[in-house]
Amino acid sequence: MQSYATLSLLSYVALVHAVPSRTLSRRATSSSCTFTSTESLAAGKDSCTDIVLDGITVTAGETLDLTGLNDGTSVTFQGTTTFGYEEWEGPLVSVSGVGIAVAGADGHVIDGDGARWWDGEGSNGGKTKPKFFAAHKLNASTITGLNVKNTPVQGFSINQAYGLTLRDITIDNSDGDAGGGHNTDAFDVGSSDGVRILGADVRNQDDCLAVNSGTNIEFSGGSCSGGHGLSIGSVGGRADNDVSNVLISRSSIHDSQNGVRVKTVYGATGSVTNVTYSDVALSNITKYGVVVEQDYENGSPTGTPTTGVSITALTLSNVTGTVADGATEVYILCGSGSCSGWTWSDVSVTGGKVSSECSNIPSGASC
Ligand SMILES: *[C@@H]1O[C@H](CO)[C@@H](O)[C@H](O)[C@H]1NC(C)=O
Ligand SMILES: *[C@@H]1O[C@H](CO)[C@@H](O)[C@H](O)[C@H]1NC(C)=O
Ligand SMILES: *[C@@H]1O[C@H](CO)[C@@H](O)[C@H](O)[C@H]1NC(C)=O
Ligand SMILES: *[C@@H]1O[C@H](CO)[C@@H](O)[C@H](O)[C@H]1NC(C)=O
Repeated sequence: MQSYATLSLLSYVALVHAVPSRTLSRRATSSSCTFTSTESLAAGKDSCTDIVLDGITVTAGETLDLTGLNDGTSVTFQGTTTFGYEEWEGPLVSVSGVGIAVAGADGHVIDGDGARWWDGEGSNGGKTKPKFFAAHKLNASTITGLNVKNTPVQGFSINQAYGLTLRDITIDNSDGDAGGGHNTDAFDVGSSDGVRILGADVRNQDDCLAVNSGTNIEFSGGSCSGGHGLSIGSVGGRADNDVSNVLISRSSIHDSQNGVRVKTVYGATGSVTNVTYSDVALSNITKYGVVVEQDYENGSPTGTPTTGVSITALTLSNVTGTVADGATEVYILCGSGSCSGWTWSDVSVTGGKVSSECSNIPSGASC
């Protein structure tokens, strides 16, 4: 044993001298590192494949930088992660890589303390607020069990992800209900293939999910409260404007402005196809139970639909529940011929008013 260990050490030393350091860091294996500051993380992440972030206070204006990790790295948030205050764009946390597994230890919390930025204006004005979590350029990766509180503005931005599962993420921005939280989207998805968001528990003040582009996206077993619903869009006007193969299932939306929502941009081009909402329960929806509209411009409806972003193969199956008094149950505003091939079954939204302003309702659906 003794001589074997010595031999290994000698081989290791030989390796250190034989290969450039970047190659060596790529080959780092199974070393576990606990970091308590962003400085030590920056200095040490190259040589670790098992990273524990223990009670880190991230310096104001800096990103907790988990990009460029070794393939197969695991990252565990432990204790309370906090962020210094500065008006800037963020993100507060950024992760990229291949085969990355991000998780939260029991009792951990990632606390954005968004109240320091909240002014009721979100990303439309007032203080510049940092976006929370960039999950960009992540392949074959998982983010599991994170416990997030009070993001300053948007939460998870998922972009150029190929095979990413986010499981059992809790986002509790409920302090923002009375405190000026705005545009606190939970999950924004774009330019990705193979994203699954399972078992999310969200309390916020904007979309629970917003898919702007991408394919093979799933949101299942989630609960959304306080926000704007489970949304596709708005689609159009970006670099990528095609959404396909989306499944939203076994989820509930309560105390929210909208339930099911698909919106496309006025005058833009693109496509939304094969989107399914199944087994979705609604309660206390204050604006629209189900809303599909092709008239968005600068984030607001114009009332005039255009046909450039078609919405085809939109399936609603077992979408049931109630809207608040005075809310609209179902609203469909399509351009002429730009919504088709829809299949709606067991759609029952009650408790509010029937819209008299629907237009170009495709066969298979009704207002
Ligand atoms: C991630 O996957 C995409 C799509 O398969 C591929 O184009 C890209 O090169 C991959 N990135 C890495 C770093 O492996
Ligand atoms: C529609 O999307 C689902 C995923 O939600 C996928 O399984 C199915 O193959 C897609 N259908 C077509 C015709 O692409
Ligand atoms: C309905 O939801 C709104 C928030 O969207 C909330 O203010 C209101 O208290 C809720 N009503 C009930 C009866 O829970
Ligand atoms: C309809 O969806 C609800 C969840 O909203 C679920 O509890 C129920 O079992 C579903 N019904 C059927 C027939 O699948």
